[in-house]
Amino acid sequence: MQVHDIAVIRGDGIGPELVDAALTVLGAVTAKGAFELRYTEIDAGADTYRRTGAACSPEDLEYLRTGVAATLKGPVGLPDVRFPDGTEAGLLGGILRTGLDAYANVRPALLLPGVTSALGSAKPGGIDYVIVRENTEGLYASRGKGVGNRWAVSDALMTTREGTLRVCRRAFELAAARNGAPSDGKRRVTCVDKSNVLRSHALFREIFFEVAADFPDIETETLYADAAAQALVLRPGDFDVLVMENFLGDVLSDLGGATIGGISLCGSGNIGDDSAYFEPIHGSAPSIAGQGLANPIGQVLAAAMMLDHVGHPAEAGLVRAAVATALEAGEVRIAPDGSALGGPEAVARAIADRID
Ligand code: IPM
Ligand code: MN
Repeated sequence: MQVHDIAVIRGDGIGPELVDAALTVLGAVTAKGAFELRYTEIDAGADTYRRTGAACSPEDLEYLRTGVAATLKGPVGLPDVRFPDGTEAGLLGGILRTGLDAYANVRPALLLPGVTSALGSAKPGGIDYVIVRENTEGLYASRGKGVGNRWAVSDALMTTREGTLRVCRRAFELAAARNGAPSDGKRRVTCVDKSNVLRSHALFREIFFEVAADFPDIETETLYADAAAQALVLRPGDFDVLVMENFLGDVLSDLGGATIGGISLCGSGNIGDDSAYFEPIHGSAPSIAGQGLANPIGQVLAAAMMLDHVGHPAEAGLVRAAVATALEAGEVRIAPDGSALGGPEAVARAIADRID
């Protein structure tokens, strides 16, 4: 039987309970016997930093890079674990995204049945787009590197030709494999930037059109980021795939999450050419950890994306369908504040039962 080695980072705060829930769902998938997942737990995150002085050891990073088919990661970070400069010390984004060269941060926003959109009028499936966030450069290239002194600090935004080419290519390939935007069924990639103001974004847009020339069947659109923020609220059904610089993607993917029931419902993949890891887009919410409130759906959908990545799209579809039908049937219910009724393990069982 096919066996895939998977690393598991359980994370901080609500991370462990979410990852356990996702593993319950994956257990229902592997119980069908088509393939096996062999897990290795990796100690990484804010608590790890506090104990060891490193959020992820170089050996573990090397293992994630070369030793596994993919990594399933819970949210990490604790508010009191900080560097002297005030930034958080336990976060793994900088370490894993650059360390694994996971240059495409793929963030779907899909309105599921049984979930109320903050936009009121939106119907299930009426919002169904993917933000492809450049993940290794942009403004966050300055992570941990800003120059400054006591009175002034500056962070630079870096856009490279090669980095933009590869993430735009990923966006168009993704659009080619999808069914287009909900409103008109057209395959479309939207480039979001502030190229009217920033030279780095003007370069991003220029390269976007170079890549687009290789995909004549896919529509292109450009939007300034401020206008995009408005459009994602007023006409989210018109979007299919959007590609953008790192910081813009961070902000707009949370906006997208708000329109589909909250970021607790959002999974994501950080995908490079050789390595990838999968996580919810939200944080570790330490204030609600262990109280049976955390919503594991983002983590479960991240696990589904991981199944896609390791070559099991049918099973990934099974997980997505189980989430949708469990929500539709009211077996899983999401409170208006985004928490899951019954807690993460009960939600996972309901989804797993659907898979069985
Ligand atoms: C995300 C998160 C991270 C980011 C934080 C926690 C460093 O917000 O994955 O979107 O900024 O990328
Ligand atoms: Mn974010």
